[in-house]
Amino acid sequence: MPKIILTDKLNEKVIEILESNGFEVNVAWDIPKEDLPKIIGEYDAIIVRSATKVRGDLLENAINLKVVGRAGVGLDNIDLETTMKRGIRVVNTPAATTNSVAELALTMVLASTRDVVKGTYEIKNNPGSFKTMKKELFSREITGKTLGLIGAGRIGTSLAVKCKALGMEVIGYDAFVSENPVVEMKLSMGDVLKDADYISLHLPLTKETKHMIGKDQINLMKKGAVLINCARGGIVDEDAAHDGLKSGQLGYYCTDVFEVEPPAPDNPLLHHEHVIISPHIGAQTMEGSYRASVQAAERVIEAFKEL
Ligand code: 3PG
Repeated sequence: MPKIILTDKLNEKVIEILESNGFEVNVAWDIPKEDLPKIIGEYDAIIVRSATKVRGDLLENAINLKVVGRAGVGLDNIDLETTMKRGIRVVNTPAATTNSVAELALTMVLASTRDVVKGTYEIKNNPGSFKTMKKELFSREITGKTLGLIGAGRIGTSLAVKCKALGMEVIGYDAFVSENPVVEMKLSMGDVLKDADYISLHLPLTKETKHMIGKDQINLMKKGAVLINCARGGIVDEDAAHDGLKSGQLGYYCTDVFEVEPPAPDNPLLHHEHVIISPHIGAQTMEGSYRASVQAAERVIEAFKEL
């Protein structure tokens, strides 16, 4: 009977599926992560989300590990080089949470435009600011504005469909995709940055994409453009984003992710009024989490059949 450990919170359905397929399941999603290297040696498989880092001590001690399941898309928390060398299979659920992430990015488009976050915060803290806020929160419509996608895969395309339905134009750049049925694809990232009112990032964090959006890219954007990051913190140079916000070159930075999570209390982005934040919840909906959990279990079971 293969032994599997689940180290990040998943939908409980995952337990039922694994047990009915003959796995002995240890639900350890509350275990302190630093304790995992001590017990991982007993397990044939592990299912994680982004919080468990499958690298270093954990992998060194994982002497029986055959399969890593990632309930989600990003694999940047897994040392793929080592797993590959050791013949450990890694499986993920690339499409399970597409819609959830796209809906969060859409929320960022709308929230930054009308700034309901600031309205809520100010008026709760000082109900007397209601009239001042009414004057200050005078915005534009999103209809007729241009969304620029950097990365036009599943999530970018899903966001494009939603934004087009709301009357926006959608342009995009993707190093691997030159045609997309709903996005007007451009030949370079610069072509997107210079023409978009909203720029949304939908690509993985890799050596090539680290700090891909820095000072030069922000300076190419239209003055006051909104940058949305529901992908990975490290793709954006946070200092450059902060400088862009201070100068007004960047209108808003809306982010679900930070280079270091949780962000340090002195991260200047936390203290800028034009930063809208969510705590890495892009994939975290009832529906997305259910699909990711079920698909991760299914993919791990398939991987064992192929061993
Ligand atoms: C992903 O890569 O799937 C998302 O960033 C979600 O990560 P999470 O499973 O830790 O919420």
